[in-house]
Amino acid sequence: VKKFLSAVALSLVAIGVPAQPAVTGSSVVPLSDDSLYRAFGGEPGLRALMDDFVNRLVIDPRIGSFFKNTNLNRLKEQLAAQLCAVSGGPCKYSGVDMKTAHGAMGVDKSNFNALVEVLQQSMDAKGIPFSTQNRMLAQLAPMHREIITK
Ligand code: HEM
Repeated sequence: VKKFLSAVALSLVAIGVPAQPAVTGSSVVPLSDDSLYRAFGGEPGLRALMDDFVNRLVIDPRIGSFFKNTNLNRLKEQLAAQLCAVSGGPCKYSGVDMKTAHGAMGVDKSNFNALVEVLQQSMDAKGIPFSTQNRMLAQLAPMHREIITK
């Protein structure tokens, strides 16, 4: 029985079924300790940050128009849960995976960089130290592979 089960596990790995459900909506693996999550003020801190961030995004002259048909409250909630998950917090992201969410939008590298700049403005405004900002950006950066299609 043991042999059979490990053969099944191996073949699932081979066909690309993840051992754990993706809790980040992406290929990003959550941090194994919650120090980054805590440095952002936990869930209340992340919610406040994503509120400010999305408010800035929608008025950004470069990429604001991407969000014209978006339910902004849902976006704020999903982003807060996702950043909580990637930074080692207790949340499970329940939104759409990054490829599915962004695939049809035609996001290019400059759009992606603009969004990161806006996020940096929000983190600055909340007084998050530069090194802490960079730890979060390092977790999010690999998502560019799933988001940029142009
Ligand atoms: C690291 C960068 C990014 C992250 C972490 C991210 C994350 C997310 C998340 C979690 C959602 C919610 C999915 C859901 O509702 O289930 C979302 C939706 C969305 N994202 Fe991104 N995103 C990123 C980059 C971008 C960029 C560069 C653009 C365009 C300039 C963009 C445009 C959008 C739009 C328009 C939606 C809402 C889609 C809708 O209305 O349903 N995102 N993103």
